[in-house]
Amino acid sequence: MLLADVSPQNIYLLTSIIILFSIGKAYLDKYKPNVRPASFLLSFFSHHLCSCLQFDHIPTIGRSGRLTSYLSAVKFFKNGREIFQKGYDLYPKGLFKVPTVAKWEFVVGGGELVEDLRKAGEEVSFHQGGVESVRFDYTIKSNIENSVYHLKIMRTKLVSFAPFCDDIHDECVAGLQDLIPANDKEWTSIPLWNTLEKLVARMSNRVFVGLPLCRDEDYLGLCIGFAGNVMAAASLINLAPKFLHPIVGPLFSPYEKHKRLVVKYLGPVIRERLRMKEEHGSEWEERPDDMVSWLVDEAQGIDAEVENLGMRILFINFAAIHTTSMIMSHVLFDLAARPEYIEHLRQEAKEVTETEGWSKSAIAKLYKMDSFIRESVRYSSLSGISMMRKVCDPDGFRFSNGITLPYGTSVSVISDAMHHDAAFYPDPYAFDGFRFYKLGKPDLDKGRDAEFHVKHAFASLSTNWVLWGLGKHACPGRFFSAHEIRATVAYILLNFDIKLEGDRRPDNQWIAHACAPDVKAHLLLRKRGGHENGRV
Ligand code: HEM
Repeated sequence: MLLADVSPQNIYLLTSIIILFSIGKAYLDKYKPNVRPASFLLSFFSHHLCSCLQFDHIPTIGRSGRLTSYLSAVKFFKNGREIFQKGYDLYPKGLFKVPTVAKWEFVVGGGELVEDLRKAGEEVSFHQGGVESVRFDYTIKSNIENSVYHLKIMRTKLVSFAPFCDDIHDECVAGLQDLIPANDKEWTSIPLWNTLEKLVARMSNRVFVGLPLCRDEDYLGLCIGFAGNVMAAASLINLAPKFLHPIVGPLFSPYEKHKRLVVKYLGPVIRERLRMKEEHGSEWEERPDDMVSWLVDEAQGIDAEVENLGMRILFINFAAIHTTSMIMSHVLFDLAARPEYIEHLRQEAKEVTETEGWSKSAIAKLYKMDSFIRESVRYSSLSGISMMRKVCDPDGFRFSNGITLPYGTSVSVISDAMHHDAAFYPDPYAFDGFRFYKLGKPDLDKGRDAEFHVKHAFASLSTNWVLWGLGKHACPGRFFSAHEIRATVAYILLNFDIKLEGDRRPDNQWIAHACAPDVKAHLLLRKRGGHENGRV
């Protein structure tokens, strides 16, 4: 497996060294202020945590002492959700900070300060925030951190994706046939997370690279494993101080392995498209309409090199697969745990698809389904924070309340706690699958479907619904992802009965700021009669 690049021994070794040095540094700072050389040396090892003690005017959730903040940082791994909730309860419209092992995380609670971040330019940089947390310079490279020409493509093609909906549906049907060996006689137990990851990878890659590659097990394994490998390596590199990055970066980076594999799987397709472009320009008969062609059309200079094009496709997969499949898992577990919703959603799916098929406009009419999905994500969450940014202005970033965050600090917006705030979501700890449908019903009754989508839909944006971020970096894949989720869940409900394997919904797993459904949990499925072709 690709993760072999980052062996458990290496992980333990580096983590232990860094924690020991960090604790040593904090101890020396506190009790032996005269031991300058040692302190100086060790300061390199814990600069993230210790350099920020100047921010005493910003409240800390947890401990802020040089030694004791490490205790809170360790606690954050297990209790991240509670720590963010406490911060939000105390400072719902303010700013607070949380110690993590690698750095201080500054968190905006809501209100005007979220608007400040939404309106801000590169002085609080989305890209530098991403570059740092994913450590592009070692893990992905490929000029992606300098050139973001793929964004223009995603903001057009993945918003106007109507021409690909038949293919997406076809891949959904074929994928479920291959991945779910269920029959109509008995319940079959399915590992939900693994199944959905593969299904989403297939559906997305049907649009990114087309047939037959979107069904190639090894290529799909690379796409699925890429995110985990990159994040594991980036976390380790980020634990080390900056001056050690040139040593630990290459040591842990999966880049060379990913590059070799992506050239193996995507190289022939990319080379052929480049050759055809050279001969015929961008218009040639039978030119496949997919992400490979779109990127080949736009790429210039080193961006048009085979391995860089391939790595960009892997990077787009990174953004697309795990987020979408996590949400599908939440939704299916929630539906199995609340079977009273199933018939309503099935009926809605039946009415819409029988008359209009599986087109973009048809699936956009699954309003109850959309509401259930949004409620499922609101209730369970993918993360405690959203909109991660890094302050890149040497003069710092000044919020409208007068507080300035200095150059180099990381700031984000609270999400899970805000999505459970009764001021925005009445009775927030009750699961109401039709919460957003009911809010949008007056608009729907007046035929104002667009209003529903802007104000209440799963893919909508607002300062109180920050799942997709806000402003110019708001997720460009959100409509595509929402379509995949609605269409897949509709198809599953029309073609399968679903049931929990145990007597309760599998618990979500929180680690630090991130939340995922139980990736080992199974769901029971049984085929329903008469709906085999998905066009009931
Ligand atoms: C449920 C699924 C998804 C979630 C929850 C999600 C969430 C996000 C969030 C929170 C951001 C950052 C916004 C900000 O900080 O302001 C983002 C950015 C991005 N997402 Fe998604 N995303 C999802 C699916 C997708 C898909 C399917 C794609 C592509 C196929 C995609 C591509 C991107 C890209 C390229 C960016 C960077 C935008 C930029 O640089 O301006 N995402 N997404």
